[in-house]
Amino acid sequence: MAPLACVLYLSIENESFNETSLKHLVYKAQEENKNHGITGFLYYKQNHFFQYLEGAPDDVNTLLENLKKDT
Ligand SMILES: Cc1cc2nc3c(=O)[nH]c(=O)nc-3n(C[C@H](O)[C@H](O)[C@H](O)COP(=O)(O)O)c2cc1C
Repeated sequence: MAPLACVLYLSIENESFNETSLKHLVYKAQEENKNHGITGFLYYKQNHFFQYLEGAPDDVNTLLENLKKDT
């Protein structure tokens, strides 16, 4: 069985998200994650994001680095 990596984090938004920008974020994330075989969930409530991600270690690490850089 191929190794899997997972990450779970909580983050507070820096800029205000509305329904449109949230949808845009989710569609982009779904498309990118599908391309890299990453699955998980993204939960948003009261300016907080709670996300779980799972996939091949290299892909999860690359995404995690992108998320860390994301303002
Ligand atoms: C809360 C949050 C969750 C995100 N989740 C994902 C994700 O699961 N997959 C993904 O590819 N990008 C996700 N992103 C977007 C990345 O952080 C980043 O903006 C994107 O990879 C950069 O793409 P670009 O360099 O083409 O602008 C998320 C962004 C935020 C703010």
